[in-house]
Amino acid sequence: MATGEYCCFRVKLLVLLISFLHTSSFLHAHSNTSLLDPQRETIETGSGNGTGIGIGDGGGSEAAAPAPSKKPQPSDFPNVKQYNAYIVIQRFKNTITCDPYNVTRTWFGYLPCTYQGFYCDTPPDSPGTPTIASIDFNGFHLCAPTIAGFIDQLPDLALFHANSNNFTGTIPDLTGLKYFYELDVSNNNMSGPFPTDVLPLANLTFLDLRFNLFAGSVPPSIFTLDLDVLFLNNNFFNQFLPANLGSTRVAYLTLANNGFTGPIPRSISYAGSTLLEVLFLNNRLSGCLPYEIGLLSESTVFDAGFNQITGSIPLSFGCLQKVEQLNLAGNLLYGHVPDVVCRLAKTGQLANLSLSGNYFTSIGHSCWELIKSGVLDVRQNCIPGFPDQRRPDECWWFFAHPKHYYCPFYHFIPCKCPVPPATPPTTKAMQRPAAASPPYMAYKALHQRHGK
Ligand SMILES: *[C@@H]1O[C@H](CO)[C@@H](O)[C@H](O)[C@H]1NC(C)=O
Ligand SMILES: *[C@@H]1O[C@H](CO)[C@@H](O)[C@H](O)[C@H]1NC(C)=O
Ligand SMILES: *[C@@H]1O[C@H](CO)[C@@H](O)[C@H](O)[C@H]1NC(C)=O
Ligand SMILES: *[C@@H]1O[C@H](CO)[C@@H](O)[C@H](O)[C@H]1NC(C)=O
Ligand SMILES: *[C@@H]1O[C@H](CO)[C@@H](O)[C@H](O)[C@H]1NC(C)=O
Ligand SMILES: *[C@@H]1O[C@H](CO)[C@@H](O)[C@H](O)[C@H]1NC(C)=O
Ligand SMILES: *[C@@H]1O[C@H](CO)[C@@H](O)[C@H](O)[C@H]1NC(C)=O
Repeated sequence: MATGEYCCFRVKLLVLLISFLHTSSFLHAHSNTSLLDPQRETIETGSGNGTGIGIGDGGGSEAAAPAPSKKPQPSDFPNVKQYNAYIVIQRFKNTITCDPYNVTRTWFGYLPCTYQGFYCDTPPDSPGTPTIASIDFNGFHLCAPTIAGFIDQLPDLALFHANSNNFTGTIPDLTGLKYFYELDVSNNNMSGPFPTDVLPLANLTFLDLRFNLFAGSVPPSIFTLDLDVLFLNNNFFNQFLPANLGSTRVAYLTLANNGFTGPIPRSISYAGSTLLEVLFLNNRLSGCLPYEIGLLSESTVFDAGFNQITGSIPLSFGCLQKVEQLNLAGNLLYGHVPDVVCRLAKTGQLANLSLSGNYFTSIGHSCWELIKSGVLDVRQNCIPGFPDQRRPDECWWFFAHPKHYYCPFYHFIPCKCPVPPATPPTTKAMQRPAAASPPYMAYKALHQRHGK
């Protein structure tokens, strides 16, 4: 690590995003267990309280070192911070109930910076005192009843990445960790409410809680933080979407596969210059599509599929110049599919418009071509004469029972609609190789694993 854990948050985030997209783990410079003296494998720590914490299981049978065990002293370690980290790590090690890759086998000896998954750096306030600054357990599949008493006891920790482990319990109070800025506990079995009170929120830039058992509500204040990434998908959050959602500065927001309710807040337009990908997919959202969604001028992914959203598609959607994936499938939308939206395949970047499983009754002129090229999916709607539509009685029933409440229809288009270029007859999607879908961050977050 040339840059260190403690500086250049945004640079570090970029590194993180790259590692997220690829399979490598975040930092990987340090593990060299051969530096350790094998005779040290059987040291044990009493941690001063006679609790009998032994760590002698280091290397399995090969480690049957006969030397009398010696209680480690601070002076045995490169510095006292590392000694303290050692005590904390050994205590945590003793709570681990499964370790299929034997990573904890490397967690012994006087050099905690060499333990697999641990990375050291020098805290800004302690020159010349390198200590544990970052933990990357991605893909280790460790089981432990709690991470309380572990990460919260490493005062200089800046990052904790633990995708695909089996940690249970709640997130401990991390507000004492003054450098902490990235938390990834995705794909574990952690539970409890959203951990607002325990996160040092002011400095947090990356929060990934997806694929856990968190429940309840997400505090509106989370949308006022200076986060870059907020992944909350695949939990049990169930609340009316906070009205200030659009205050968020995140580039990637995944709320998919929870129990969120209410309409998409009109404030979403405030995120117009920063929000790149957003997944509302598969919740219980209702109400109308706010006209303000059309002001998300930077978004490449907008996915509100599989909710109970009703009304028609506002013409403002024709302003989504950068949108590539626009998914509104599986809702209660009806009316006409606007021509300006389909034109985005020519004038913008639209590559996939999923509207199947709604109650649309007609499509704009430019939409026909998109059906042919496979960009637009309108199956299971109510469009007369089209193949693969809902049964007439289903459509009749929907329109005869206006339980969908009235949505205002705005004719105003808040952008200058570009004129389609005259020459190229093919859509953007046709120019692309169909199979190679771009590596969208948000959609990748719908898969449980990253790292190894
Ligand atoms: C570990 O350190 C030893 C001694 O410095 C060196 O010979 C060896 O190549 C290192 N191994 C790795 C994997 O870096
Ligand atoms: C040792 O015990 C004392 C009090 O019994 C407690 O305050 C302290 O945190 C304990 N230390 C460790 C390392 O468990
Ligand atoms: C882990 O260690 C145990 C015994 O020490 C061994 O049986 C097992 O094969 C090891 N697993 C891996 C993945 O190295
Ligand atoms: C995860 O931990 C739970 C609770 O400790 C345990 O019942 C379960 O078997 C573990 N699953 C795996 C895959 O290790
Ligand atoms: C969570 O626990 C369940 C049951 O205890 C287990 O089947 C599942 O594999 C665990 N999840 C992870 C990510 O280990
Ligand atoms: C944020 O980080 C700075 C140092 O980079 C530190 O002084 C400050 O206490 C931290 N704030 C919080 C709320 O953790
Ligand atoms: C288009 O998006 C929908 C919804 O996300 C997805 O199910 C479908 O596979 C995508 N189609 C293509 C061709 O990428």
